[in-house]
Amino acid sequence: MSASWGYEAARAAASVIAPRIGIGEPLLTLILGSGLGSVVDRVADARSVPYSSVPGFPDTAVQGHAGRVVAGTLAGRPVIVFAGRFHMYEGHPAAASAFPVRVAHSLGAKVMVATNAAGGIDATLSPGDLVLIDDQINLTGRNPLEGTLEEGDTRFPDMSAAYSPRLRSLLAKAAGNRPLRRGVYAGLLGPAYETPAEVRMLRALGADVTGMSTVGEALVAAAIGVEFAGISLVTNLASGITDAPVRHEDVIEAGRVASARLGDLLEAAVTLL
Ligand code: HPA
Repeated sequence: MSASWGYEAARAAASVIAPRIGIGEPLLTLILGSGLGSVVDRVADARSVPYSSVPGFPDTAVQGHAGRVVAGTLAGRPVIVFAGRFHMYEGHPAAASAFPVRVAHSLGAKVMVATNAAGGIDATLSPGDLVLIDDQINLTGRNPLEGTLEEGDTRFPDMSAAYSPRLRSLLAKAAGNRPLRRGVYAGLLGPAYETPAEVRMLRALGADVTGMSTVGEALVAAAIGVEFAGISLVTNLASGITDAPVRHEDVIEAGRVASARLGDLLEAAVTLL
């Protein structure tokens, strides 16, 4: 299953991207979630490659996903940004969905921070809150590591510290006085938002936020040895936490409004790496 988006495919993709972005080893690699694409505007000396011109990268279709790899500097440090995802709910296999993690690794990335839009399950969360992900629950029913073992992968990756304790404390330090919540991210397949009963189930399972990405990326990162962290932006309260319906337009708009604060946090973090 994963051969099409495995080690060799990642090397092929990286060999197309590298000469076009002309960057040495990035200090930090970012994956930007829905509505959070404007973080890329902070990258100075940006060179960009559309996903559509990279072998192995499907076209990104969903509104709010730009679909390009951008390299440059953030606060003067070399970074690579993957703006846009291939979600499993769009029909992409789990291995394709997590492919950017392998490509980043082939480009020399050692540290990755994934960002996402998420629904707040913990009743004390509010739209606009940033949540540092401490751990995850993979409820997608998929795993990008399924199948033939890829070169360089660990067959049975340890997930006891999938969200790097070092990066978590670094991000907490970077936040300084700015509020940064912490929590467990439940990753679901989507594309429908949850029912109130499902959200009650997620809360009982110990989840604080829920979304439709990131968990597969954390799994690949663990298997290939990329140090991984995640930040959720709470774009809405999850279904049933309030009476309000969950609407994609609101999710994208909340992401747009809060992406400046996310950008501030990431800029502060990269200077501490
Ligand atoms: N549920 C799942 N994914 C999401 C949500 C949500 O409420 N908000 C943003 N992404």
